[in-house]
Amino acid sequence: YITHIDAAERLDSRGKPTVQVIITTDRGAFRSLVPSGASKGDYEAIELRDADAARYQGNGMLRAVKNVQDVIGPELIAKKFDVSTQQREIDAFMCELDGSPDKEQFGANAILGISMAVARAGATARDLPLYAHLSSLAYRASKPYVLPTPFFNVLNGGVHSGNPMAFQEMMIAPVGASSMAEAVRWGSEIYSELKTLITSKFGKSAVGIGDEGGFAPPISEPHEALDLLIAAIKAAGHEGGVKIGIDPASSEFYNTDTREYDIGMKWDHSSPQSGEQIAALYHKILAEYPVVLLEDPFAQDDWSSWTIFNKNCAVELVGDDLLATNINRINMANEREACNALLLKINQIGTISESIDAAQRAYELGWAVFVSHRSGETTDDFIADLTVALGTGHLKSGSPCRGERVAKYNRLMDIEDDIKRRNLEHSFAGANFRYAYR
Ligand code: PGA
Ligand code: ZN
Repeated sequence: YITHIDAAERLDSRGKPTVQVIITTDRGAFRSLVPSGASKGDYEAIELRDADAARYQGNGMLRAVKNVQDVIGPELIAKKFDVSTQQREIDAFMCELDGSPDKEQFGANAILGISMAVARAGATARDLPLYAHLSSLAYRASKPYVLPTPFFNVLNGGVHSGNPMAFQEMMIAPVGASSMAEAVRWGSEIYSELKTLITSKFGKSAVGIGDEGGFAPPISEPHEALDLLIAAIKAAGHEGGVKIGIDPASSEFYNTDTREYDIGMKWDHSSPQSGEQIAALYHKILAEYPVVLLEDPFAQDDWSSWTIFNKNCAVELVGDDLLATNINRINMANEREACNALLLKINQIGTISESIDAAQRAYELGWAVFVSHRSGETTDDFIADLTVALGTGHLKSGSPCRGERVAKYNRLMDIEDDIKRRNLEHSFAGANFRYAYR
């Protein structure tokens, strides 16, 4: 049983306040830290921030903290839930208590912090590692574990950096590696070569990094970024074994009035394009580069562009802002045949049970599931365990650099070692990252 629930305001990787929750049971104290996005979708659960302009420019989280301390915490303790078997009941109870469809009453930041800490308490109550506990919550306990192919975001643009590049994320995926540890090594080696290349091309001052730890050199056009990646992969000696993923996060450069995309707006070079025109740009990129995954190429309400692009789409087409880890949005996208993969962000929906349900629904539809960190992260490594538990086969947690990013990759290597030590059946997803869950 839970004996105590406490919360506090702590900092995330951007130096902005976030929520920390600590749940105490007879087995110890279990902590969680909640992440936060910058290119947030319109359909995400509500992140509650204080309206108090005198603190943190209005970004404080004391209201969410108080909601944990004074309302949700006491109610949960009074219910005497069993953390080892009642994750679902606890999450559902919090949603009901909140009463709103998007968790605006308490804030998804308050609710998720508790949900994560409850899962950790439950794992310890069952003497299981977190990934094993979560895999049984997801009814996957009988399946072999899958270590995910990491997608390292090594070039940052969009709202994650100050460079002129509109596309938000350029990722490298070591699909030819044979283990988690080898994939991380390749990622780090390519990242180092990329640094050398950027230094020689743009000078030492150009190797500053963006919110997700990737470089943010003064480039603007997608092909400049892609050429840099190809050169770095080659310089590291991993040509052929590494593919590319792109998240343009296009809702950020979409004009909802004119229904146009403008990838020039970040460098004073406005060049509005229709959905059809930007789709042609994507097709050109897919024809010229080894790109295997495209996330949010179109804006969250531009359904028709999604549906047209998804016809006979050869690559993984991931809905992030489009779906917001929300089953209703997933079902809408399925009806419109708008995409073939779900981006899974736990704070977009606000509980672990609902995150698991979103992944299961995507699996039922035959889609892939791509787990994701947020641009505002913490050292909490929860999503590493969740990725292995769900067998999603791939995740993105930024570049192989910066503590809050590598925390997840390091945890995944720990899990790989742990699974080997226990002699449990497992595989590394590699090139099969889309369908490794089957
Ligand atoms: P965010 O970016 O965390 O700033 O929303 C991540 C993404 O768009 O995938
Ligand atoms: Zn995205």
